Amino acid sequence: MSKKNKLKQISVIGLGYVGLPLALLVDIKGYSVVGIDIDTKKIELIKKRISPFEDKAISKQLKQSRIEVTDDFSRLKDSSIVIICVPTPVYKNHMPNLELVKSASEKVGEHLKKGQLVILESTVNPGVSEGIVQPILERTSGLKSGKDFYLAHCPERINPGDEKWNVRNIDRVVGALSDKGLKIAVNFYRSIIDGDIKSMKSIKEAEAVKVVENSFRDINIAFVNELAMSFEKLGIDVVNVIEGAATKPFAFMPHFPGCGVGGHCIPVDPYYLIEYAKKKGFIHDFLALARRINSQMPEYAVEQVVKGLNEKKKSINGAKVAVLGLSYKPDIGDYRESPSFEIIKLLKSYGAKVASYDPFVLEKSSVKSLKEALKGAEAVVVATGHAKFKKISPKIYIKNGVKVVVDGRNCLNKEKFQKAGLVYKGIGR
Ligand SMILES: NC(=O)c1ccc[n+]([C@@H]2O[C@H](COP(=O)([O-])OP(=O)(O)OC[C@H]3O[C@@H](n4cnc5c(N)ncnc54)[C@H](O)[C@@H]3O)[C@@H](O)[C@H]2O)c1
Repeated sequence: MSKKNKLKQISVIGLGYVGLPLALLVDIKGYSVVGIDIDTKKIELIKKRISPFEDKAISKQLKQSRIEVTDDFSRLKDSSIVIICVPTPVYKNHMPNLELVKSASEKVGEHLKKGQLVILESTVNPGVSEGIVQPILERTSGLKSGKDFYLAHCPERINPGDEKWNVRNIDRVVGALSDKGLKIAVNFYRSIIDGDIKSMKSIKEAEAVKVVENSFRDINIAFVNELAMSFEKLGIDVVNVIEGAATKPFAFMPHFPGCGVGGHCIPVDPYYLIEYAKKKGFIHDFLALARRINSQMPEYAVEQVVKGLNEKKKSINGAKVAVLGLSYKPDIGDYRESPSFEIIKLLKSYGAKVASYDPFVLEKSSVKSLKEALKGAEAVVVATGHAKFKKISPKIYIKNGVKVVVDGRNCLNKEKFQKAGLVYKGIGR
């Protein structure tokens, strides 16, 4: 623990998947940390040292941490740095929803003191720090940016559930509105992060980095999803082809198809760039197409259920279908924007009786055990590649009366399932 850091207080606003790991890391690095959130239930849990979300490393760190948590924004007045980590979702019509960034900025501004640095870590499109956050901070504090306080942006890159890459070791990029703000922000991140810290020439560039990273992923996933749908018709297993292509040691990065893209970032962030560019007179056809292809994948997965049942001379209407997995990725409980819910909606619209189950998302599951989900199911959709689901053998499915398995994550052994006499349908295999 650094003695120097011990003298400084850091406030973290928004204690979710991004803010809480960050607050815990800052605490480990010897700073005194005040975590501020508007969700009082979450605050109570953290006070009791219980993680509000399933994460073994965070649960362990929380037990040993000294962070203080509160819903009182006035506590940030003694902090040298205030870091905003609130959500940036989209509305139903895909328009960016910056209301939480605005309300957090207002609250921060009301208590802002001379000399403080505010860092926005939430994902935003270029122009938000300068065009929205800065004016709110200036209006509510009566202080001047660049002179009385500093504003920087350092987009978070955390990948919840990733055992290799975490808030501590991922390189970061930082942009700021003034040289002094940039210097303080870069020094701060150097003091907590083991990876490299890259200074960007402007705050807008730093904002753009994050939306570009996530759009890159969305586009690449859309590409392989399109290949999956095409290769099904060509009788080629797309996964084998991608694995083959990945043996090229340069200029190919494997991405894999699936029954839909979920989470708070990839299906959301491209819209921030699409809408911002539209306002400035540019239409992002490529990004919009990627969004459209990826949003259609739940429909494609349900089509596989219909086809599979048809092969067994069964109708989807009235059939029990088990949907295994509600979170958007394996072995975590985050179900924001998860395609599973669209799959369930579509299955029901065809008259299927759906039993949904996710051991990490029991509160949204329609049944509380795997046994209950599988009992009498004629078809199964593996919508999330949880380790627990990957272990289910064809024998167990057959014992329960299952005839069709739709592997929405291409995470099962196709040949093994086919050999056992089940109709196996993957996404492009
Ligand atoms: N989840 C990820 O994997 C991830 C990764 C990188 C970047 N991001 C970005 O980080 C930001 C935060 O995402 P998250 O996943 O941590 O969200 P989250 O929903 O898990 O947590 C956000 C927290 O902010 C609190 N909050 C909301 N409005 C507030 C306000 N006005 N004042 C104080 N607290 C407020 C909420 O109660 C919640 O606890 C988003 O912009 C997201 O795009 C997320």
